[in-house]
Amino acid sequence: MQDTLSIIKPDGVRKKIVGKILKRFEDNGFEIINPRYINLSKEEASEFYNIHKGKPFFDDLIIFMTSGPCLPFIIRGENAILRVRELMGSTDPDEAAPETIRADFADSIDSNVIHGSDSEQSAKREIRFFFG
Ligand code: CMP
Repeated sequence: MQDTLSIIKPDGVRKKIVGKILKRFEDNGFEIINPRYINLSKEEASEFYNIHKGKPFFDDLIIFMTSGPCLPFIIRGENAILRVRELMGSTDPDEAAPETIRADFADSIDSNVIHGSDSEQSAKREIRFFFG
């Protein structure tokens, strides 16, 4: 069993696809833990994404992540970190495999409906960030 951190981003909430996304994880045998809507402040979003500070897309990412409520939650299951990333598809929806969440619902690399931790270390840090 492994835990990973996912966030349905503000575009996913605006599109009203929260239920569809959570169902995909549940249909694949995962447990959804502690989903709750929050509004990230600029400071919180900058801290969460601090590894991207200085990159050309950073400022737009912070504006986007603070543009409305988002839904962080923990996903628990076997090999969760890797399998959740597979179910999400590539960061850029144009490169995402068919039937992945981003291929089906995302508009662009900047507006890609969902986040998932990319390693064990990130998952620990990101779960601590939202859930202490
Ligand atoms: P995510 O994996 O949640 O974390 C960083 C986000 O930055 C990423 O999703 C994308 O939505 C966004 N982003 C925009 N441009 C890029 C890029 N060139 N490489 C990686 N992430 C990008």
